[in-house]
Amino acid sequence: MKNMTDFPSQAPLLEVTGLETAFEIDGELYNAVDGVSFNVKPKQVLGVVGESGCGKSVMSLSIMQLLPKGIGKIRNGQITFNGQSLEKLDDKKMNKIRGKDIGMIFQEPMTSLNPVFTIGFQLAESLHNHFKLSKKEARGKVIELLDQVGISRPERVVDEYPHQLSGGMRQRVMIAMAIACKPKLLIADEPTTALDVTVQAQILELLQGLQETNDMAIILITHDLGVVAETCHEVLVMYAGEVVERADVVTLFENPKHPYTELLMRSIPRLDEEEEKLASIEGIVPSLKNMPRQGCKFVDRCPKAMEECRTITPRLSENLPGHEVRCLLYETSWNREGMSAK
Ligand SMILES: Nc1ncnc2c1ncn2[C@@H]1O[C@H](COP(=O)(O)OP(=O)(O)O)[C@@H](O)[C@H]1O
Ligand SMILES: [Mg+2]
Repeated sequence: MKNMTDFPSQAPLLEVTGLETAFEIDGELYNAVDGVSFNVKPKQVLGVVGESGCGKSVMSLSIMQLLPKGIGKIRNGQITFNGQSLEKLDDKKMNKIRGKDIGMIFQEPMTSLNPVFTIGFQLAESLHNHFKLSKKEARGKVIELLDQVGISRPERVVDEYPHQLSGGMRQRVMIAMAIACKPKLLIADEPTTALDVTVQAQILELLQGLQETNDMAIILITHDLGVVAETCHEVLVMYAGEVVERADVVTLFENPKHPYTELLMRSIPRLDEEEEKLASIEGIVPSLKNMPRQGCKFVDRCPKAMEECRTITPRLSENLPGHEVRCLLYETSWNREGMSAK
């Protein structure tokens, strides 16, 4: 596991503060991301974990300013990248940052490969968006990139079409595209979810290698805590649009605090126990319209829920230095504030 002491007091590369992103449903706004704050330091790998529907993708789309227009919007908060407020930039300026300074690999078809163009053409296009290169130079650079992401015989693959490649190879090409301009930050939203376990491991290894050679920070989004163990320095656990726990990776695995994190730990698939059925967490993440308005959002699924959890809204508070938890079990002040505990 990786050590957070590699990142002493460096200024953050990305700073997200109080981010609230809402969708309009039947004329009303509902927060899919509800007051999320975090930092990413240069070269840091931050894991963002949580079940499907917890707001991970909406959070990354918010950073990239790629929310569906007229449907989703940032209501509150600041997103500062390299000292620039991204939420204030116009499309043109944001386009310059996207791909060049911040790369992304998303699962959504929007960023997947176009079946009618060769790999080389598509990769060259992303280079041309940001650099002036001759055709020959671009081809050379594309071959170099394919090689860098571990594609063998790149001089052949450059002229092939996406359907001629395996899923793992296609994901490598997507990664090549995302890192073509050497971004300082890569956002990888479930980059291995669609791949089988062996290929998953290879892709994670590739990302880690690239993080080191390119001195790149990564936000690695996944629903699988197992994926973050080897790859990340720090982890945010998200539930229902909120951060419920934040810690460095060693602390989180050795000493998980939030009952949700504990349950996620128990549902990590283990290679050596293929027979054993995964303990999945009972119940579902509440939909935006059914989000509890007060109390803890996890209360209905929490094995440790107390009566007070329905009425007192837990705050994200520091349990130990650098370890934050949003749970009444670890809040010492709630019963002293007049909301008597039984
Ligand atoms: N375009 C949209 N319109 C309305 N609700 C949306 C839209 N996209 C996402 N949501 C809702 O926002 C919440 C968070 O979704 P998402 O960020 O995709 O979750 P995750 O990536 O963690 O699986 C979910 O409740 C989802 O239904
Ligand atoms: Mg998602």
